[in-house]
Amino acid sequence: MKSKIFGYLFVVGCCLALALPFAAQDKNLALTPPMGWNSWNHFAARVDDKAVRAAADAMVASGMKDAGYVYINIDDTWEAKRDAQGLIQPNEKFPDMKALADYVHSKGLKLGIYSSPAAKTCAGFEGSLGHEEQDAQTYAKWGIDYLKYDWCKSSGSLDEMKTSYTKMRDALKRTGRPIVLSLCQYGWNKVWVWGESVGGNLWRTTGDITDEYRMMAEIGFNQNGLEKYAGPGHWNDPDMLEVGNGGMNDDEYRTHMSLWAILAAPLIAGNDLSKMTPYTVELLTNREVLAVDQDPLGKQGSRIAQEGPFEVWMKPMADGSKVVGLFNRQRFAEEMAVDFSQIGITSEAIVHDLWLKNDVGTFKDKFSAFVPRHGVVFVRIKAK
Ligand code: GLA
Repeated sequence: MKSKIFGYLFVVGCCLALALPFAAQDKNLALTPPMGWNSWNHFAARVDDKAVRAAADAMVASGMKDAGYVYINIDDTWEAKRDAQGLIQPNEKFPDMKALADYVHSKGLKLGIYSSPAAKTCAGFEGSLGHEEQDAQTYAKWGIDYLKYDWCKSSGSLDEMKTSYTKMRDALKRTGRPIVLSLCQYGWNKVWVWGESVGGNLWRTTGDITDEYRMMAEIGFNQNGLEKYAGPGHWNDPDMLEVGNGGMNDDEYRTHMSLWAILAAPLIAGNDLSKMTPYTVELLTNREVLAVDQDPLGKQGSRIAQEGPFEVWMKPMADGSKVVGLFNRQRFAEEMAVDFSQIGITSEAIVHDLWLKNDVGTFKDKFSAFVPRHGVVFVRIKAK
């Protein structure tokens, strides 16, 4: 009898052990949208060990780490060829990846890396095709905590795409190291519908962002409708931030930050952290705005009203309050309003300005304000 029970337990144990690596990517990895920095938007191919260490130093010194930023992500162009055993090697810009990871970890931060399911990455460097298992093991050995996996030069059907991502998810799982999986395939084939099922903790929903209002706004405001696919552990990613890169004015960058926060988007800074103006630091570290993005309820906000270039967006918060963005996309200042009936508030409510960090007052039925061109008035509204 005893041996029968042991036999049974053995079979169940084996089944579990086999099944575990194929379970969904660990959701606890990204219960709120990941916050960090990525090298691509500012450094592109110029990223090297020194720039990554400087980003880690600056993330601590600027107060970004204390505000919640944690990932330091190396994007494309770190890869060299493989050695005789097929193991991926970093190129001359990254003399010792393990030492770099140790350095980043010593600051209380985490290190991310980039690869592609194709033979070559977007920038033409070595991809992971046919080496997924080895690469995942190498990343784990180095101490990598986050992988951006970029489709780019891959080809194939939707099923093949899903298989490629699943293969890397399973390889990462088998390392036993928690590694956030960031899917990058520009939102093709409605990735938001199946991204979570192939292990994505986040997935890009669009093509590449550029440092201009027109592009940032097109991407950000087009996220409307995708809100039902995001939640704790799995997020829509409208691409990395351009805040601080110089291509937008103050109001436009405030719009960028507010929109990404209301979208519960991953906040991955893309500027040179070692050279920031006080305004850039304030934009990136305003705790009240970051709390909108990081709210534990994990609801992505959406558009609740639109009149031509005037858009009103709302994000429900865990404490029952509603965050509202009055966004003016036209080239002149304009008065805009939010009707409390549109956000489910029937009583008087306190309106708090998230950028000014003060209460504007108590309002009934609606709240209105002048909104600068390309700007935003960003408020949290709580019923009394
Ligand atoms: C693609 C991605 C970018 C960046 C580059 C690197 O364009 O969308 O975010 O990673 O590749 O080559």
